[in-house]
Amino acid sequence: MTTDTTGTAARDGQSRRGGPADSPFVRACRREPAPHTPVWFMRQAGRSLPEYREIRANVPMLESCRRPELVTEITLQPVRRHGVDAAILFSDIVVPVAAAGIDLDIVAGTGPVVAEPVRAAGDVERIRPITRDDVSYVDEAVRLLVAELGDTPLIGFAGAPFTLASYLVEGGPSRTHAKTKALMYGDPDLWHALCARLAEVTLSFLRVQVEAGVSAVQLFDSWAGALSEADYRRYVLPHSTHVLTGLADAGVPRIHFGVGTAELLGAMGEAGVDVVGVDWRTPLDVATRRIGPDKAVQGNLDPCVLLAPWPVVEAEVRRILEEGRAAPGHVFNLGHGVLPETDPDVLTRVVALVHELSARPAE
Ligand code: CP3
Repeated sequence: MTTDTTGTAARDGQSRRGGPADSPFVRACRREPAPHTPVWFMRQAGRSLPEYREIRANVPMLESCRRPELVTEITLQPVRRHGVDAAILFSDIVVPVAAAGIDLDIVAGTGPVVAEPVRAAGDVERIRPITRDDVSYVDEAVRLLVAELGDTPLIGFAGAPFTLASYLVEGGPSRTHAKTKALMYGDPDLWHALCARLAEVTLSFLRVQVEAGVSAVQLFDSWAGALSEADYRRYVLPHSTHVLTGLADAGVPRIHFGVGTAELLGAMGEAGVDVVGVDWRTPLDVATRRIGPDKAVQGNLDPCVLLAPWPVVEAEVRRILEEGRAAPGHVFNLGHGVLPETDPDVLTRVVALVHELSARPAE
């Protein structure tokens, strides 16, 4: 990592050779040859790091997302420690929803909890459009980070309409998404109105991050796997497509991720994306056949494998790199987020192993 100290220097770096736009991560997203397979971990910012727990002690989650210096430090921690190929902004998928006027909190050990769950049209109307001023702390954090990161790309992100809607309708995390589906099937007009509002908030939130200098964006539709392909296409895909195609002119790669999405991979690839995230259930070569030959893939080590003895981890990393060769671009990652009980040293070893096994001589 270089130590550019001004935003201007780092942003100039986006266009020059050697800057973040020419990094192994962005090259792999664009299906261009890269010197090694890039690797980063979903939920790398926080979770397993003792230095994260220390700095977050006594700062509630949502408040920590609104302090640009703290966001910068937490985002940089895994880059320094593990040498990953990309940083992911420390924030949360519910941050823009709170900025849009919804009363919610992130409860430690539980996740997002919404004070008044969405039930009727009046609840949907409470979701206001957002501008940069509503999330100025995110704009500021991204600018600080881009200056600090130099050649290392920063990934911006947002939650997709379905996953956000699930939190808003259920009022919190849900195993079955029963209330969400009841609304979706029972009142499709209200459902589409809700998702359309969330799509606008999400698009604005991602635009703020792109304008502040992120090098790629990831749309997290973590819970989309709860739906059949037909229902996904009917009730969800148009809204996620609105978000992702709305960024077509942004000039940064777009990643689309969900869990349990084996049956949805093809559809998720149609939403206007460069990369499809794959969980551990589908081997990357099989995923590539479903997604098609014109998209990169990201994944897909089972986060639980990191809790196993090292020879098991190593064998799985080798298998995934091998299967990833079937795709025109591969970004190594987990199939879902880092588990809090993961030994951070194992993450560091995985990064080194991926780099070593995938090193390619310069063209
Ligand atoms: O490292 C990163 O990936 C960047 C930060 C990040 C967080 N949340 C920080 C966070 C990202 C990308 C997210 C996205 C997010 N948030 C998703 C999509 C990704 C996924 O894992 O599927 C979802 C579904 C959420 C909602 C959410 N926020 C949940 C389910 C939880 C977990 C509750 C818990 O304590 O386990 C959160 C809280 C949260 N978001 C934490 C972090 C680091 C833990 C809170 C803490 O440290 O106190």
